Amino acid sequence: MSQFTEFVQPQMGRIFTALGLDVEYVRAEGNTLHHRDEQGAEVPVLDLMGGYGSLILGHNHPEIVAHAHDLLDQRRAVHAQFSLREEAGRLGAALSDVVRRETSVKEPYVATFGNSGAEAVEAAVKHAELVRVRAVAELADSVAAHVERAREAVGRGEAVVDADAFHAPAVRERAPEGEGIEALLAAVGAHNTAALATRPLFLALERSFHGKLVGSVQLTYNSGFRTPFAHLGTRVRFVPMDRPELLDAIADEERVTLLDVETDGGRVRVVERDLPVITAFLVEPVQGEGGIHALTVEQGRAIRLFCNKVGTALIIDEVQSGLGRCGAFLASSLIGLRGDYYTLSKSLGGGLAKISAMLVRKSLYQGEFDIIHSSTFAMDDFSSGVARKVVELLEAGDGQLYRQVTERGERLTAVLNDLKAAYPDVIEDVRGKGLFLGVQLRDQGGARSMVLRGSAYTGSLGYLLSGYLLRQERIRIAPTGSAGNVLRIQPSAYLTDEEIEQVRGALDRLCRILRHEDTLHLVHPASDRRIPKPRAEIRDFRGTLPGYEQDAPRPVTGPVRKVAFLNHLIEPAHLRQVDPALADLSDAALRSFVLGMDPVKKAAPYPGVRIDSPLGSAVEFALYPLMVSSEQMGGYLASGDVTGIRADIEERVQAARDDGCAVAGLGMYTSIVTNNCTSLRVPGIALTSGNALTVAMGVQAMERGAQDRGWKVEDATLAVVGAAGNIASVYSQLFAERLGRIVLVGSRRDGSVRRLRNTVHGIYQECWSRIAAGGELTGIPARLAEEPLITKWLAEGPGGDDAGRGRAIAEHLQERYGSDPFLTVTQDSAALREAQLVLAASNSPEPFLTGEHFADGAVICDIAVPNNVVPGVTEQRPDLAYMLGGIVATPNGESLHPSARAFLEAGQLFACMAETALMGLAGLDRHYSYGNISRQQVIDIAALADAHGLRLADYKSAHSV
Ligand code: F0G
Repeated sequence: MSQFTEFVQPQMGRIFTALGLDVEYVRAEGNTLHHRDEQGAEVPVLDLMGGYGSLILGHNHPEIVAHAHDLLDQRRAVHAQFSLREEAGRLGAALSDVVRRETSVKEPYVATFGNSGAEAVEAAVKHAELVRVRAVAELADSVAAHVERAREAVGRGEAVVDADAFHAPAVRERAPEGEGIEALLAAVGAHNTAALATRPLFLALERSFHGKLVGSVQLTYNSGFRTPFAHLGTRVRFVPMDRPELLDAIADEERVTLLDVETDGGRVRVVERDLPVITAFLVEPVQGEGGIHALTVEQGRAIRLFCNKVGTALIIDEVQSGLGRCGAFLASSLIGLRGDYYTLSKSLGGGLAKISAMLVRKSLYQGEFDIIHSSTFAMDDFSSGVARKVVELLEAGDGQLYRQVTERGERLTAVLNDLKAAYPDVIEDVRGKGLFLGVQLRDQGGARSMVLRGSAYTGSLGYLLSGYLLRQERIRIAPTGSAGNVLRIQPSAYLTDEEIEQVRGALDRLCRILRHEDTLHLVHPASDRRIPKPRAEIRDFRGTLPGYEQDAPRPVTGPVRKVAFLNHLIEPAHLRQVDPALADLSDAALRSFVLGMDPVKKAAPYPGVRIDSPLGSAVEFALYPLMVSSEQMGGYLASGDVTGIRADIEERVQAARDDGCAVAGLGMYTSIVTNNCTSLRVPGIALTSGNALTVAMGVQAMERGAQDRGWKVEDATLAVVGAAGNIASVYSQLFAERLGRIVLVGSRRDGSVRRLRNTVHGIYQECWSRIAAGGELTGIPARLAEEPLITKWLAEGPGGDDAGRGRAIAEHLQERYGSDPFLTVTQDSAALREAQLVLAASNSPEPFLTGEHFADGAVICDIAVPNNVVPGVTEQRPDLAYMLGGIVATPNGESLHPSARAFLEAGQLFACMAETALMGLAGLDRHYSYGNISRQQVIDIAALADAHGLRLADYKSAHSV
């Protein structure tokens, strides 16, 4: 594992690996990054991510590198805090000049430097709030002075309180009319104290991104980033960019007034004054992280007018859009928008330094901000010097570079628009300004390919494509952080025609891949790279998979409930069933793809299949797949490291509940790794492992197997291998009521005999319960009923030590017959040959039962995971009936989506699935098979299944789990 993954970003590191983005870049120049291939040779990559937009001058621009060398060679005093930092001064002057030139504003700007974009944003936020609190204090002081003046004037008899003064609503609530000046002033004071406690409000746009520090993250729209820290922060309201008309309503809702008293013409009156509550409005002229959305001239104008009207500061965040990125120093200047504050960063550092600047109009600047805001590394000579060089390069030749950005941007945009015209089914939109471009891809939620549908479901389509573009096309593009279907394209101003053509070719192929759903090209880069790509051409896979359209549901008389069933990949090779484009990938490639996807296991749910009960109710039965193989599941169990997979399962159950499912069934290994659901903590949804109906159907399947071979279960001996577990014991208890003899075969490990004795006691205990309950007896209980011990107990009537009866029976039989005539315990697997029925349930890590172990024509049910019987046993022994359990037929032939059936045929469900559906049909709203199951649960669920038309279809004979 890489040290980055181990020590720096454990989660992202794994995701990079999963997507094929796990490269280390060793060299960078202009628009090109280099990493090394497996042989150590440098691989050039066209970099369109450009350092999240911080490389308008490209990587390692020669003049900036030379200038940086110069600064170092001169032994500059990089950190000389508490002195005249003239390098920063010169940079401040240069920035002020450029902004004034571009916005035609006379007033200079004062710069506060920092180290990152978020820091600049927070400096602006702090400064604006300082301005606001100063204004509030001034207002409060003037009110206090007016209050004193009124009190004195009334005291001297020079003025009287105007009757109207008590009519202001805030006064009327607190002081009745006709009270004196003191009552009036007390009411005014109480109102004002409450008003002054109002927390400031910030406005920002929906989809905004202003940083991720404690303060700035509050202004960032993506709730995933923001809400965990909501308690730490300021009050922010987000406004949709295209609805500036909402602003006035917000101002009205947020309006807070102070009450002031005027003394004039011998009368004291109460007047309202607006309290400044909205500290600032933050806008990005072109939103980057939120998906490349540019403000229009009209939107900008509406925002500026609003700020003027309510007297709030406009902070223009040019961290990403500025420094030439959009074809001007400030993107806002292109729409004629002027700010009170500007934040700059990213390209300001020229790709070498970390620097940001917050510029504020000089007349607004609060001198004390110098002291109450600081940052050790800010204003250092190195970054200031580099940034000054950047400004010089940007401004050289009368803005030649800005024109170049515009021209290159137009050329690249034309290519992207050509692609959009050619692939309107793939590309939804091309937008942006200058070299700040976004390509929005259409949603793939309706694709038939499971890989594409899954990427739409997890919002990761853009990331999947990034892997392809990097590995196959040697182009580095990533989607924007908060819009996973928008590819963000931010090259340097030096993008060449050849590079633009490279982009055209690559995106053309990518569009063809998406149109044709040929996911092989997307999955291969995310698999083991030592495995060569099996084919280069793009094939059309549309139409090779059935769609998800379903017939309109039949009307039902009862309720329709949604239920979810969690399944997972049995083997990676099964991906070929759900995504035929992957057919040419080897098992090894598919396996490494699935292993790599470990950090993102969830896949898109299959639309619900409607199943109707003859009793009138219905369910929508939806699969919630996890992209994890049985092999991986076995690995988690073997290592004991189940925390991660349990969290993944819990997340799927929550998603099912949030989608409105009343029941979640845990299929295959998901029930095992959660100890049959008991590890999950998800309120509001009923869970089941499906084990009860699985046992019921297993018993029925064995019966049918016996019937097919012309003999009866009643006449058979049953052998149970590994009988100590819950499910095997319940099987044994059920069979004990049917037949005369059971052989319990333990492993050769210590303690196995003792554990099996407990199973024996459990079986006899159940037998006694049957006998004590009265009624007709069969199997072992019928024979036990003739034992003198039992007749004695029955004569004694109820009472006594009921819990110990099982053991007492076993001891009685041993004493009376020398050996137990009904239940035999052994560690010798040769005993299997005496049995016509075999239940294999041992937790051996390897299959160990072969053809030699079984009697002629035996019926074997292998419920062990992994299986106990070696694969291919029926080829060696065609006389055997080998099954893994029962398959259930749906009431009206309802079927899973053909690609999700695994070993099932149309009209069939696995028994655990059927139990999940049944809970919905029967309206069972509590957990059913949860933890250990009992014989009674099996009997009850079997009866319920029968009533709802879910019956044994067949026994499954393939190795499936
Ligand atoms: N403001 C804007 C407009 C930004 O795009 C960013 C960062 C910041 C502030 C914060 O800057 O990361 O230096 O603290 N944008 C990056 C992006 C992360 O993905 O676009 P920072």
